[in-house]
Amino acid sequence: MAVAGRNRALPVPHAVERPDRVPKARYLDADFHRLETERLWPRVWQMACRLEEIPRPHDCVEYTFGDQSVVVVRTADLGVRAFQNACRHRGVKLVQGRATCEQGFVCPFHGWCYDAGGRNTHVPRAGTFDPHNLETGDIDLVPVRCEAWGGCAWINLDDGAPPLRDCLEPAASALDEWKVESLRTEWWYACRLPVNWKLAIEAFVEAYHVPETHPQLRIPTRYGRRDGAPFDPRAFVDADLRYLRAMSEGMGGMVHAQDVRVAEGLAADLRDSLPADPDAATATWNRELNRAVTRHHRARGADVPDLEDLAARGLALEFFHCFPHWFVLPMYSSASSYRFRPLGPEETLMEIWSLTRPGAGEERPRPEPPEPWEHDDPRWPPIPAQDFSNLPRQQQGLHTHGFRFMRLSRDLEGHVSNFERTIDGFLAGLPHERLLPALHAVNGYPFDKPVLDLGW
Ligand code: FES
Ligand SMILES: [Fe+2]
Repeated sequence: MAVAGRNRALPVPHAVERPDRVPKARYLDADFHRLETERLWPRVWQMACRLEEIPRPHDCVEYTFGDQSVVVVRTADLGVRAFQNACRHRGVKLVQGRATCEQGFVCPFHGWCYDAGGRNTHVPRAGTFDPHNLETGDIDLVPVRCEAWGGCAWINLDDGAPPLRDCLEPAASALDEWKVESLRTEWWYACRLPVNWKLAIEAFVEAYHVPETHPQLRIPTRYGRRDGAPFDPRAFVDADLRYLRAMSEGMGGMVHAQDVRVAEGLAADLRDSLPADPDAATATWNRELNRAVTRHHRARGADVPDLEDLAARGLALEFFHCFPHWFVLPMYSSASSYRFRPLGPEETLMEIWSLTRPGAGEERPRPEPPEPWEHDDPRWPPIPAQDFSNLPRQQQGLHTHGFRFMRLSRDLEGHVSNFERTIDGFLAGLPHERLLPALHAVNGYPFDKPVLDLGW
């Protein structure tokens, strides 16, 4: 393990010096939060919107992070572009929420006009300005790098950052195989959490918490085996159905209801004919379920990958984190997706999408941005409600004087360390070529990841 702290370009307060210990100030300190605002967020690719939020040419949406506002625009050829959201006259935001720029942008204050490409097209009473204030090019909207991938538009304020795909690997290639771009929003919720954004993320990146926080998802139940009891294929199938239903209802659709119904139909056919050997029964059930789900969605004209082929190639994975703040959690045909943004040192906006695959010719309405619910809103499904109930308690616990750092399991909670130390790389101002391997470590699956050497 390389010694943390070596070759740092800029000093980083509260850095992770021992990879398995995370100082608590990183989750509380206003100066640390400010440093992230200055040195992390302006240098990373951020998922700014799903493309179905801007389905038609000239649709625009505002994306905010910290005190920054960006307009993302769907171009005439259904590409994407983005601008900093400020009129070049006296700074008024041109778009609030959503808009169309079919006629370009007109600033509501004094009426400066811009075309959909951001070029200034009109300054009322232009003769009253000295020429140095109206120089060509200097009064166009400031462009922001913007790329589309995975059904989303992504922005980056840093012109020196590597291209989007390079920063999202290896998750991007694996998610391409899973046809992530064919997913569409079924629903979209948001939660205001009274915790630091990194604390919120870290509640969802390991399975160590599952037995205690989500007892209904205990793995022994899933496999239908009790100590000493002989393996019973029927009990195993019943246990898997219970697990799939818990993930479907408890997670509000993490396993899509259609896939649960496919599994129930398959169970009725296979229950009595599975092999008695546990490994053979498990392999047969998993293979047949993958095939049945694939068949079901192809029959309705949905663009779904061959799930059994992906499984055979080790690509049927359940967890992808794209640094810093976007997640995809695939389950069979569908996925949940999360995005986390800091609203302050101890406040986070977490959004949750349920993503499914539309059938042939199926139109989905343009998704509406959700009003955030509080973390203890009774409308949350049981599983996120369990995670949300821990988080404010954890943020409060961090404040106690006797608590100084989090101690991490080397083997099970390595992702927390890899994520935090990658943030340190940005705060230290390391060049992108040194940051890229760390991004790849964070964006690499699987769920229970060990502490990795990031090269600093
Ligand atoms: S601030 Fe936009 S026209 Fe004046
Ligand atoms: Fe959880």
